[in-house]
Amino acid sequence: MPHPVKTYLNKGDTYQFCTCSKSADGVLCDGSHKGTEFIPKEFIATRDSEFLLCLCKNSTCTPFCDGAHAKREQLNLDFLLD
Ligand code: FES
Repeated sequence: MPHPVKTYLNKGDTYQFCTCSKSADGVLCDGSHKGTEFIPKEFIATRDSEFLLCLCKNSTCTPFCDGAHAKREQLNLDFLLD
């Protein structure tokens, strides 16, 4: 399961979060979604800081990581213990 990507964001700047997983870095849209049903999710950074942006696309608070990738990994490990 892909782990989040640490990304520096500038307060007040508008970003496009990649929802298709086809962008070069996997987290910020670079237009690679063209021709698919996906559209990027626009958001504005609330402070100058590094943020963990979701790469697994299962976070409930995209664009930010909520640990969903780790929960999925745990589920996968549980499968191996059966
Ligand atoms: S490249 Fe993924 S949404 Fe634009």
